[in-house]
Amino acid sequence: MNKINDPKIELHLHLEGGAPPSLIHQMSKEKNIDISGIFTKDGHYFFRDFTHFLSVYEAATSVLTSSDDFYRLTKAVLEQSAQNGVIYTETFLSPDFCGGADVIAWHDYLAAIKEAATEAEKEWGVTMRGIVTCIRHFGPDKARSVAFCAAETAGDFIRGFGMGGAETVGTQGDYAYSFNLAREAGLRLTTHAGEWGGAESVRQAINDLKVERLGHGIQVIEDHSLVQEVIERGITLEVCPGSNVALSIFPNVKSHPIAELREMGVKVTVSTDDPPFFHTTMRQEYALLANAFKWKDKDFQELNKNAVDAAFCDDETKVRLLKELDTE
Ligand code: ADE
Ligand code: ZN
Repeated sequence: MNKINDPKIELHLHLEGGAPPSLIHQMSKEKNIDISGIFTKDGHYFFRDFTHFLSVYEAATSVLTSSDDFYRLTKAVLEQSAQNGVIYTETFLSPDFCGGADVIAWHDYLAAIKEAATEAEKEWGVTMRGIVTCIRHFGPDKARSVAFCAAETAGDFIRGFGMGGAETVGTQGDYAYSFNLAREAGLRLTTHAGEWGGAESVRQAINDLKVERLGHGIQVIEDHSLVQEVIERGITLEVCPGSNVALSIFPNVKSHPIAELREMGVKVTVSTDDPPFFHTTMRQEYALLANAFKWKDKDFQELNKNAVDAAFCDDETKVRLLKELDTE
């Protein structure tokens, strides 16, 4: 059987970024919020470039105004994941969009997200864990409130802390306080680096934030000595080829550096980032990679093993996931 149909581990999925446009459209109607400008005529999200993508993304999240909305969102996203064979997903959760990074509100929203995740696991066999994520272009002060929310809720479900948003705003080091706070609370760390900010941004992420994973990370390829450092430190890349192509970082999957990075010895994994925005799914990512690089079962097996190794969940969950990967 081809791995395209087999169980998959995903490490890089933004919860709001997984929102089916039909759900966001439905909620906008229920609440009388006019966000019609973010959709194409046939009901897909519309954006011109990365900056526009971020503003469309934020407009879409503006209809998510209650914990119940996040319950519905989480169910919808996990159903999609399960339909694509995903058995474990690490999902970026943004307290900024859940009551403005207020810790009391965050507790409420998180309870609803967890309830949905528990049901999804029972119904569809997909396990979710959360990575609380600050948004870089909202600035370091907001990031501190988000890190506080993360630290307050660190545990079996919230396993990590990360940062998304506009990578060219400020430096990674501007957020060191928040990352240190999260680390001290026992959270594992990742940040978007080397998607837009080049190898320098990857260097900052490693030196100033001391992350163990990189969101995207692909532009590390600009600096071969830094590639060696990434390998030596055992840092894993959360690579999202379809996202990078949809945002025109590369013209197509064939010209994407994932295969070259892997050949150089970097630990790579595959994820969707924001699947409906980028017209992708985990199944499609695998199909595109199989086609572009002639990857076979053993190649996808390696990617999934890398993902389990680098996952932020506990060891018991890892053992179960490895078994599920092997027995299918
Ligand atoms: N938030 C959602 N998707 C993102 C991406 N690809 N880069 C940075 N921040 C994001
Ligand atoms: Zn991302």
